Amino acid sequence: MRMIFLGPPGAGKGTHAARVMQLYGIPQISTGDMLRQAIRAQTPLGLEAKRYIDAGELVPDEVVIGMVRERLAQQDCQLGYILDGFPRTVAQAEALAVFAPIDLVLNIDVLDEQIIRRLSGRRVCPGCNGTFHLATLADAHTCPTCSAQLVQRKDDEPATVLNRLRVYREQTQPLIDYYRARGLLKTVSGEGSIEESFDNVRRALGLAQA
Ligand code: AP5
Repeated sequence: MRMIFLGPPGAGKGTHAARVMQLYGIPQISTGDMLRQAIRAQTPLGLEAKRYIDAGELVPDEVVIGMVRERLAQQDCQLGYILDGFPRTVAQAEALAVFAPIDLVLNIDVLDEQIIRRLSGRRVCPGCNGTFHLATLADAHTCPTCSAQLVQRKDDEPATVLNRLRVYREQTQPLIDYYRARGLLKTVSGEGSIEESFDNVRRALGLAQA
């Protein structure tokens, strides 16, 4: 299965893609994670991407398209993949259509108030790459999986979140119509708890209840 997870920042794309990856045994390809990894490694691409990410703007299409094209050519993508956070512009979708087939686009729908609540409470682990929320953490500072110190993403600060929502509406939301017109789109509600919204994801993908 070759899928795209679409949705506003904080919709739960990463959270649900990680679970679907386990169930299908196919890689989750998160352009956000790849870019943050390049920033940590201080590569030229990372240094260029950092100023866009910190401001809540999109990294230029040509940079991201090249990165995804290379990643999808790797052996572990031959049986399928979950694209998490790509494409994000119509230009990216058009480029993707040339080099990779897509079977399904899952659009995760969440209201703005919920997004702001989720992103302001999100904490991530630089050790194991896990994503958590303050509301479900017993200790706000320590990763429950690997005990590393949790951090807040710089682009989860309130002013940047508002800009990311604006950028989403202007540049990414048009992809909903783009993929609907191609008969590939399924929309699910991402409201409610993680378990409730994952049930919606599971049903949309035709996966049996655990
Ligand atoms: P990226 O990392 O992709 O950020 P994003 O799309 O804004 O997505 P998020 O990671 O914020 O949200 P998510 O939907 O994955 O939610 P999550 O599961 O973490 O991109 C970052 C930046 O990189 C971009 O701004 C851009 O600059 C650049 N970039 C990346 N891709 C690009 C591209 N293709 N082109 C150009 N630039 C690109 O969940 C969020 C929180 O909510 C977590 O704390 C989680 O525990 C919690 N949560 C999730 N679901 C639920 C639920 N149902 N109930 C309660 N809590 C929940």
